Amino acid sequence: MASNRKKWFYMISFVGLLFLDIVAVVECIKWLSLQHSHLNWNLSSNNNHARGIRSGVTSPCALARRKYGLVKIQAKLCRGSMEVMPHIQNAALLTTETCQLIFNDRRWNCSSIAKAPHLTPDLTRATREQAYVYALSSATLTHTLARACASGNLHQCTCAGRPTNPNTEQFQWGGCGDNVRWASQFSKKFVDNMEKKSLEKREKSKEEGSKVAVQEAVAVINLHNNKVGRKMISGNLKTQCKCHGVSGSCNIKTCWKALVPIQEIGKQLLQKYTNAREVSRGIVNKLDSKVNSKKVLSADQLIYLTKSPDYCTKDEKLGSFGTVGRHCNVSSTGLDSCRILCCGRGYRTVVEEKIERCQCKFYNCCYVKCKICRTKTKVFECS
Ligand SMILES: *[C@@H]1O[C@H](CO)[C@@H](O)[C@H](O)[C@H]1NC(C)=O
Ligand SMILES: *[C@@H]1O[C@H](CO)[C@@H](O)[C@H](O)[C@H]1NC(C)=O
Ligand SMILES: *[C@@H]1O[C@H](CO)[C@@H](O)[C@H](O)[C@H]1NC(C)=O
Repeated sequence: MASNRKKWFYMISFVGLLFLDIVAVVECIKWLSLQHSHLNWNLSSNNNHARGIRSGVTSPCALARRKYGLVKIQAKLCRGSMEVMPHIQNAALLTTETCQLIFNDRRWNCSSIAKAPHLTPDLTRATREQAYVYALSSATLTHTLARACASGNLHQCTCAGRPTNPNTEQFQWGGCGDNVRWASQFSKKFVDNMEKKSLEKREKSKEEGSKVAVQEAVAVINLHNNKVGRKMISGNLKTQCKCHGVSGSCNIKTCWKALVPIQEIGKQLLQKYTNAREVSRGIVNKLDSKVNSKKVLSADQLIYLTKSPDYCTKDEKLGSFGTVGRHCNVSSTGLDSCRILCCGRGYRTVVEEKIERCQCKFYNCCYVKCKICRTKTKVFECS
Protein backbone atom coordinates (compact mmCIF):
# COMPACT_ATOMS: atom_id res chain seq x y z
CA MET A 1 0.00 0.00 0.00
CA ALA A 2 2.61 2.46 1.13
CA SER A 3 4.99 1.48 -1.63
CA ASN A 4 2.20 1.82 -4.17
CA ARG A 5 1.52 5.31 -3.03
CA LYS A 6 5.20 6.03 -3.29
CA LYS A 7 5.20 4.81 -6.87
CA TRP A 8 2.40 7.17 -7.77
CA PHE A 9 4.14 9.97 -6.03
CA TYR A 10 7.29 9.38 -8.05
CA MET A 11 5.38 9.07 -11.29
CA ILE A 12 3.48 12.28 -10.74
CA SER A 13 6.57 14.18 -9.73
CA PHE A 14 8.43 12.81 -12.72
CA VAL A 15 5.80 14.06 -15.14
CA GLY A 16 5.65 17.32 -13.22
CA LEU A 17 9.40 17.77 -13.44
CA LEU A 18 9.41 17.07 -17.14
CA PHE A 19 6.84 19.77 -17.60
CA LEU A 20 8.66 22.18 -15.32
CA ASP A 21 11.88 21.65 -17.18
CA ILE A 22 10.30 22.53 -20.45
CA VAL A 23 8.79 25.67 -19.04
CA ALA A 24 11.96 26.64 -17.25
CA VAL A 25 14.17 25.98 -20.19
CA VAL A 26 14.60 29.59 -21.22
CA GLU A 27 14.70 31.09 -17.80
CA CYS A 28 18.03 30.27 -16.29
CA ILE A 29 18.86 33.88 -15.50
CA LYS A 30 16.22 34.06 -12.82
CA TRP A 31 19.05 33.78 -10.30
CA LEU A 32 19.68 37.45 -11.05
CA SER A 33 16.79 38.11 -8.69
CA LEU A 34 19.10 37.20 -5.82
CA GLN A 35 20.18 40.82 -6.01
CA HIS A 36 17.01 41.64 -4.08
CA SER A 37 17.35 38.92 -1.50
CA HIS A 38 18.30 39.27 2.13
CA LEU A 39 18.93 35.60 2.66
CA ASN A 40 21.24 34.51 5.38
CA TRP A 41 23.80 32.18 3.86
CA ASN A 42 25.66 31.29 7.01
CA LEU A 43 24.29 27.79 7.50
CA SER A 44 27.33 25.70 6.77
CA SER A 45 27.05 23.30 3.90
CA ASN A 46 27.92 20.13 5.77
CA ASN A 47 25.32 20.91 8.36
CA ASN A 48 22.23 18.72 8.18
CA HIS A 49 20.10 21.74 8.82
CA ALA A 50 21.00 22.89 5.36
CA ARG A 51 18.37 20.58 3.96
CA GLY A 52 15.94 22.36 6.13
CA ILE A 53 12.72 20.48 5.84
CA ARG A 54 12.97 18.22 8.86
CA SER A 55 14.77 20.53 11.19
CA GLY A 56 12.04 23.15 10.93
CA VAL A 57 14.56 25.73 9.77
CA THR A 58 13.98 26.55 6.14
CA SER A 59 17.22 26.42 4.27
CA PRO A 60 18.15 29.60 2.43
CA CYS A 61 18.54 27.41 -0.67
CA ALA A 62 14.94 26.25 -0.45
CA LEU A 63 13.85 29.85 -0.01
CA ALA A 64 15.97 30.92 -2.93
CA ARG A 65 14.31 28.27 -5.04
CA ARG A 66 10.85 29.29 -4.01
CA LYS A 67 11.19 33.06 -4.01
CA TYR A 68 14.11 33.89 -6.22
CA GLY A 69 13.67 31.49 -9.07
CA LEU A 70 16.67 29.23 -8.59
CA VAL A 71 16.15 26.13 -10.67
CA LYS A 72 16.53 22.68 -9.19
CA ILE A 73 20.15 22.18 -10.09
CA GLN A 74 21.06 25.61 -8.79
CA ALA A 75 19.39 24.87 -5.47
CA LYS A 76 21.38 21.66 -5.27
CA LEU A 77 24.62 23.52 -5.94
CA CYS A 78 23.52 26.01 -3.32
CA ARG A 79 23.15 23.27 -0.71
CA GLY A 80 26.49 21.76 -1.63
CA SER A 81 28.43 25.03 -1.78
CA MET A 82 26.63 27.51 0.33
CA GLU A 83 29.72 29.58 0.92
CA VAL A 84 29.62 30.50 -2.75
CA MET A 85 26.12 31.95 -2.54
CA PRO A 86 26.93 35.41 -1.20
CA HIS A 87 29.29 35.79 -4.13
CA ILE A 88 26.60 34.69 -6.55
CA GLN A 89 24.33 37.26 -4.97
CA ASN A 90 27.00 39.92 -5.49
CA ALA A 91 27.40 38.81 -9.07
CA ALA A 92 23.66 39.28 -9.61
CA LEU A 93 23.85 42.84 -8.35
CA LEU A 94 26.98 43.58 -10.31
CA THR A 95 25.40 42.26 -13.49
CA THR A 96 22.46 44.61 -13.10
CA GLU A 97 24.60 47.62 -12.28
CA THR A 98 26.96 46.99 -15.15
CA CYS A 99 24.23 46.36 -17.69
CA GLN A 100 22.31 49.46 -16.65
CA LEU A 101 25.42 51.58 -16.73
CA ILE A 102 26.33 50.43 -20.22
CA PHE A 103 22.80 50.79 -21.62
CA ASN A 104 21.99 53.94 -19.69
CA ASP A 105 21.70 56.13 -22.79
CA ARG A 106 19.71 53.72 -24.94
CA ARG A 107 16.06 53.07 -25.60
CA TRP A 108 16.41 49.59 -24.14
CA ASN A 109 18.15 50.47 -20.89
CA CYS A 110 18.36 47.08 -19.18
CA SER A 111 15.69 47.98 -16.66
CA SER A 112 14.01 44.62 -17.19
CA ILE A 113 16.69 42.56 -15.51
CA ALA A 114 15.83 44.13 -12.20
CA LYS A 115 12.39 42.53 -12.56
CA ALA A 116 13.78 38.99 -12.25
CA PRO A 117 12.57 36.38 -11.37
CA HIS A 118 9.73 37.74 -13.45
CA LEU A 119 11.15 37.90 -16.96
CA THR A 120 9.65 40.04 -19.69
CA PRO A 121 9.64 38.91 -23.34
CA ASP A 122 12.71 40.98 -24.23
CA LEU A 123 14.62 38.45 -22.15
CA THR A 124 12.87 35.23 -23.15
CA ARG A 125 12.55 35.31 -26.93
CA ALA A 126 16.27 35.04 -27.66
CA THR A 127 16.69 38.66 -28.68
CA ARG A 128 19.94 40.55 -29.06
CA GLU A 129 19.35 42.10 -25.63
CA GLN A 130 18.90 38.66 -24.12
CA ALA A 131 22.16 37.58 -25.71
CA TYR A 132 23.90 40.46 -24.00
CA VAL A 133 22.35 39.75 -20.62
CA TYR A 134 23.21 36.04 -20.72
CA ALA A 135 26.78 36.69 -21.76
CA LEU A 136 27.24 39.46 -19.22
CA SER A 137 25.74 37.49 -16.36
CA SER A 138 27.84 34.41 -16.97
CA ALA A 139 30.91 36.63 -17.38
CA THR A 140 30.16 38.51 -14.18
CA LEU A 141 29.60 35.31 -12.26
CA THR A 142 32.93 33.94 -13.47
CA HIS A 143 34.64 37.22 -12.66
CA THR A 144 33.22 37.44 -9.15
CA LEU A 145 34.05 33.84 -8.28
CA ALA A 146 37.58 34.06 -9.69
CA ARG A 147 38.19 37.07 -7.46
CA ALA A 148 36.67 35.34 -4.46
CA CYS A 149 39.01 32.37 -4.94
CA ALA A 150 42.06 34.60 -5.09
CA SER A 151 41.08 36.61 -2.06
CA GLY A 152 40.87 33.45 0.01
CA ASN A 153 37.15 33.66 0.65
CA LEU A 154 36.28 30.17 -0.51
CA HIS A 155 37.35 26.78 0.72
CA GLN A 156 36.83 25.10 -2.59
CA CYS A 157 39.40 27.10 -4.51
CA THR A 158 42.54 29.14 -4.09
CA CYS A 159 44.76 31.26 -6.29
CA ALA A 160 45.09 30.20 -9.89
CA GLY A 161 47.75 27.67 -10.78
CA ARG A 162 50.81 29.10 -12.47
CA PRO A 163 50.50 29.67 -16.20
CA THR A 164 52.15 26.95 -18.25
CA ASN A 165 54.40 29.16 -20.28
CA PRO A 166 57.79 29.20 -18.64
CA ASN A 167 59.38 31.88 -16.53
CA THR A 168 61.45 34.31 -18.54
CA GLU A 169 64.57 36.30 -17.90
CA GLN A 170 62.43 39.26 -16.95
CA PHE A 171 60.10 37.67 -14.45
CA GLN A 172 58.86 34.61 -12.59
CA TRP A 173 55.31 33.51 -12.18
CA GLY A 174 54.17 33.90 -8.61
CA GLY A 175 51.80 35.93 -6.51
CA CYS A 176 48.14 35.04 -6.57
CA GLY A 177 46.32 34.93 -9.87
CA ASP A 178 42.54 35.17 -10.15
CA ASN A 179 41.25 31.63 -10.47
CA VAL A 180 39.32 31.79 -13.71
CA ARG A 181 39.52 28.09 -14.30
CA TRP A 182 37.65 27.05 -11.21
CA ALA A 183 35.27 30.01 -11.50
CA SER A 184 34.48 29.25 -15.09
CA GLN A 185 33.69 25.63 -14.29
CA PHE A 186 31.47 26.52 -11.38
CA SER A 187 29.73 29.23 -13.33
CA LYS A 188 29.13 26.79 -16.14
CA LYS A 189 27.57 24.30 -13.77
CA PHE A 190 25.44 27.00 -12.22
CA VAL A 191 24.09 28.67 -15.36
CA ASP A 192 24.26 26.00 -18.05
CA ASN A 193 23.16 22.80 -16.48
CA MET A 194 19.44 23.22 -16.49
CA GLU A 195 19.23 24.11 -20.14
CA LYS A 196 21.57 21.31 -21.06
CA LYS A 197 19.54 18.79 -19.15
CA SER A 198 16.31 19.78 -20.79
CA LEU A 199 17.94 19.60 -24.19
CA GLU A 200 19.16 16.09 -23.49
CA LYS A 201 15.73 15.08 -22.35
CA ARG A 202 14.24 16.53 -25.50
CA GLU A 203 16.68 14.65 -27.70
CA LYS A 204 15.23 11.46 -26.32
CA SER A 205 11.61 12.30 -27.05
CA LYS A 206 11.61 14.35 -30.19
CA GLU A 207 8.02 14.55 -31.13
CA GLU A 208 6.82 17.69 -29.42
CA GLY A 209 5.24 20.51 -31.32
CA SER A 210 6.88 23.61 -32.76
CA LYS A 211 6.50 25.64 -29.59
CA VAL A 212 8.89 23.35 -27.83
CA ALA A 213 11.19 23.47 -30.81
CA VAL A 214 11.42 27.24 -30.40
CA GLN A 215 12.29 26.86 -26.75
CA GLU A 216 14.87 24.31 -27.69
CA ALA A 217 16.46 26.82 -30.02
CA VAL A 218 16.36 29.47 -27.33
CA ALA A 219 18.11 27.10 -24.93
CA VAL A 220 20.86 26.37 -27.45
CA ILE A 221 21.32 30.08 -28.05
CA ASN A 222 21.45 30.86 -24.33
CA LEU A 223 24.10 28.21 -23.84
CA HIS A 224 26.16 29.64 -26.65
CA ASN A 225 25.96 33.18 -25.31
CA ASN A 226 26.83 32.01 -21.80
CA LYS A 227 29.95 30.50 -23.25
CA VAL A 228 30.85 33.73 -25.06
CA GLY A 229 30.58 35.50 -21.71
CA ARG A 230 32.87 33.08 -19.89
CA LYS A 231 35.37 33.24 -22.70
CA MET A 232 35.49 37.02 -22.41
CA ILE A 233 36.83 36.55 -18.91
CA SER A 234 39.38 33.84 -19.62
CA GLY A 235 40.52 35.55 -22.81
CA ASN A 236 41.01 38.93 -21.17
CA LEU A 237 43.49 38.33 -18.39
CA LYS A 238 46.24 40.86 -17.90
CA THR A 239 49.66 40.11 -16.55
CA GLN A 240 50.31 42.07 -13.38
CA CYS A 241 53.68 42.25 -11.71
CA LYS A 242 55.35 43.27 -8.54
CA CYS A 243 58.96 44.29 -8.19
CA HIS A 244 61.33 42.99 -5.58
CA GLY A 245 64.96 43.61 -5.00
CA VAL A 246 67.10 46.23 -3.40
CA SER A 247 65.32 49.57 -3.09
CA GLY A 248 63.06 49.22 -6.07
CA SER A 249 65.76 47.98 -8.38
CA CYS A 250 63.28 45.45 -9.66
CA ASN A 251 65.87 42.81 -10.38
CA ILE A 252 63.34 40.23 -9.31
CA LYS A 253 59.86 40.48 -10.66
CA THR A 254 56.87 38.22 -9.89
CA CYS A 255 53.89 38.24 -12.13
CA TRP A 256 50.43 36.71 -12.19
CA LYS A 257 47.34 36.79 -14.34
CA ALA A 258 44.62 39.17 -13.18
CA LEU A 259 41.11 40.01 -14.28
CA VAL A 260 40.22 43.23 -16.04
CA PRO A 261 37.40 45.28 -14.47
CA ILE A 262 33.92 44.02 -15.27
CA GLN A 263 32.90 47.38 -16.77
CA GLU A 264 35.60 46.81 -19.33
CA ILE A 265 34.11 43.41 -20.13
CA GLY A 266 30.67 45.00 -20.33
CA LYS A 267 31.94 47.49 -22.91
CA GLN A 268 33.59 44.82 -24.99
CA LEU A 269 30.39 42.81 -24.89
CA LEU A 270 28.53 45.89 -26.11
CA GLN A 271 30.55 45.67 -29.28
CA LYS A 272 29.58 42.05 -29.62
CA TYR A 273 25.99 43.08 -29.01
CA THR A 274 26.22 45.54 -31.89
CA ASN A 275 27.74 42.90 -34.14
CA ALA A 276 25.56 40.05 -32.92
CA ARG A 277 24.51 37.58 -35.55
CA GLU A 278 20.96 36.60 -36.29
CA VAL A 279 20.67 32.86 -36.66
CA SER A 280 17.91 30.78 -38.11
CA ARG A 281 16.43 27.79 -36.39
CA GLY A 282 18.09 25.64 -39.02
CA ILE A 283 21.52 26.69 -37.82
CA VAL A 284 20.49 26.16 -34.26
CA ASN A 285 19.40 22.63 -35.08
CA LYS A 286 22.82 21.94 -36.50
CA LEU A 287 24.40 23.18 -33.29
CA ASP A 288 22.05 21.03 -31.33
CA SER A 289 23.15 17.84 -33.02
CA LYS A 290 26.72 18.89 -32.32
CA VAL A 291 27.80 18.71 -35.94
CA ASN A 292 31.02 20.50 -35.54
CA SER A 293 29.42 23.51 -33.94
CA LYS A 294 32.71 25.38 -33.95
CA LYS A 295 32.58 25.56 -37.72
CA VAL A 296 29.04 26.85 -37.73
CA LEU A 297 29.47 29.57 -35.16
CA SER A 298 32.37 31.41 -33.68
CA ALA A 299 32.62 31.23 -29.91
CA ASP A 300 33.38 34.95 -30.03
CA GLN A 301 30.09 36.04 -31.46
CA LEU A 302 26.80 36.66 -29.72
CA ILE A 303 23.81 35.17 -31.48
CA TYR A 304 20.09 35.83 -31.41
CA LEU A 305 16.99 34.37 -32.95
CA THR A 306 14.31 37.05 -32.75
CA LYS A 307 14.63 40.57 -34.11
CA SER A 308 14.11 43.22 -31.46
CA PRO A 309 11.48 45.92 -31.70
CA ASP A 310 12.75 49.52 -31.76
CA TYR A 311 11.66 49.86 -28.10
CA CYS A 312 10.05 53.22 -28.94
CA THR A 313 6.50 52.41 -27.94
CA LYS A 314 5.09 50.34 -25.17
CA ASP A 315 4.25 46.80 -26.14
CA GLU A 316 4.18 44.32 -23.32
CA LYS A 317 4.00 41.34 -25.63
CA LEU A 318 7.40 42.26 -27.02
CA GLY A 319 8.90 43.35 -23.73
CA SER A 320 9.14 46.95 -24.89
CA PHE A 321 8.52 49.59 -22.26
CA GLY A 322 8.63 52.58 -24.61
CA THR A 323 10.54 55.78 -24.05
CA VAL A 324 7.77 58.10 -22.91
CA GLY A 325 9.02 60.02 -19.89
CA ARG A 326 12.68 59.10 -20.38
CA HIS A 327 15.18 61.88 -19.83
CA CYS A 328 16.99 62.83 -23.01
CA ASN A 329 20.00 65.03 -23.62
CA VAL A 330 19.39 68.10 -25.80
CA SER A 331 23.06 68.77 -26.42
CA SER A 332 23.92 65.26 -27.45
CA THR A 333 23.89 63.87 -30.96
CA GLY A 334 24.21 60.29 -29.77
CA LEU A 335 21.76 57.63 -28.71
CA ASP A 336 20.66 59.68 -25.70
CA SER A 337 19.82 62.71 -27.85
CA CYS A 338 16.21 63.82 -27.69
CA ARG A 339 15.78 63.07 -31.36
CA ILE A 340 16.83 59.44 -31.13
CA LEU A 341 15.73 58.55 -27.61
CA CYS A 342 12.29 60.10 -28.08
CA CYS A 343 11.88 58.47 -31.49
CA GLY A 344 10.89 61.74 -33.15
CA ARG A 345 7.91 62.33 -30.87
CA GLY A 346 9.46 65.41 -29.34
CA TYR A 347 10.05 66.25 -25.71
CA ARG A 348 8.92 68.45 -22.85
CA THR A 349 11.08 70.70 -20.76
CA VAL A 350 10.52 70.25 -17.08
CA VAL A 351 12.07 72.39 -14.40
CA GLU A 352 13.10 70.32 -11.43
CA GLU A 353 13.81 71.99 -8.15
CA LYS A 354 16.30 70.47 -5.79
CA ILE A 355 16.48 71.44 -2.17
CA GLU A 356 19.86 70.87 -0.59
CA ARG A 357 21.98 71.91 2.32
CA CYS A 358 24.74 74.16 1.05
CA GLN A 359 27.38 76.74 1.94
CA CYS A 360 28.11 74.87 5.11
CA LYS A 361 30.45 76.53 7.59
CA PHE A 362 32.16 75.36 10.72
CA TYR A 363 31.59 77.36 13.87
CA ASN A 364 33.78 77.07 16.96
CA CYS A 365 35.48 73.94 15.72
CA CYS A 366 32.61 71.64 16.29
CA TYR A 367 29.38 72.54 14.79
CA VAL A 368 28.27 73.06 11.26
CA LYS A 369 25.71 75.46 9.95
CA CYS A 370 24.30 75.23 6.48
CA LYS A 371 21.95 77.20 4.34
CA ILE A 372 19.14 75.68 2.40
CA CYS A 373 19.62 76.14 -1.31
CA ARG A 374 17.10 75.69 -4.01
CA THR A 375 18.58 74.91 -7.37
CA LYS A 376 16.58 74.67 -10.50
CA THR A 377 17.62 72.43 -13.32
CA LYS A 378 15.96 71.79 -16.60
CA VAL A 379 15.37 68.25 -17.64
CA PHE A 380 14.01 67.07 -20.93
CA GLU A 381 11.44 64.32 -21.01
CA CYS A 382 10.36 62.36 -24.03
CA SER A 383 6.74 62.94 -24.97
C1 LIG B 1 24.01 33.99 10.93
O1 LIG B 1 24.86 35.04 11.34
C2 LIG B 1 24.23 36.05 12.09
C3 LIG B 1 25.25 37.12 12.42
O2 LIG B 1 26.25 37.16 11.48
C4 LIG B 1 23.62 35.47 13.34
O3 LIG B 1 22.94 36.48 14.07
C5 LIG B 1 22.64 34.40 12.98
O4 LIG B 1 22.14 33.79 14.14
C6 LIG B 1 23.31 33.34 12.09
N1 LIG B 1 22.27 32.42 11.64
C7 LIG B 1 22.43 31.12 11.67
C8 LIG B 1 21.24 30.35 11.25
O5 LIG B 1 23.46 30.58 11.98
C1 LIG C 1 14.83 52.85 -18.19
O1 LIG C 1 13.68 52.69 -19.00
C2 LIG C 1 12.49 52.47 -18.28
C3 LIG C 1 11.40 52.17 -19.27
O2 LIG C 1 11.36 53.14 -20.29
C4 LIG C 1 12.19 53.65 -17.38
O3 LIG C 1 11.02 53.42 -16.63
C5 LIG C 1 13.37 53.89 -16.45
O4 LIG C 1 13.17 55.05 -15.69
C6 LIG C 1 14.66 54.02 -17.24
N1 LIG C 1 15.78 54.08 -16.33
C7 LIG C 1 16.66 55.04 -16.38
C8 LIG C 1 17.76 55.00 -15.36
O5 LIG C 1 16.62 55.94 -17.20
C1 LIG D 1 24.75 65.57 -22.81
O1 LIG D 1 25.57 65.35 -23.93
C2 LIG D 1 26.73 66.14 -23.95
C3 LIG D 1 27.42 65.88 -25.30
O2 LIG D 1 27.55 64.52 -25.54
C4 LIG D 1 27.61 65.77 -22.76
O3 LIG D 1 28.77 66.54 -22.75
C5 LIG D 1 26.81 66.00 -21.48
O4 LIG D 1 27.56 65.57 -20.36
C6 LIG D 1 25.50 65.27 -21.52
N1 LIG D 1 24.70 65.68 -20.38
C7 LIG D 1 24.16 64.80 -19.55
C8 LIG D 1 23.34 65.37 -18.44
O5 LIG D 1 24.33 63.60 -19.66
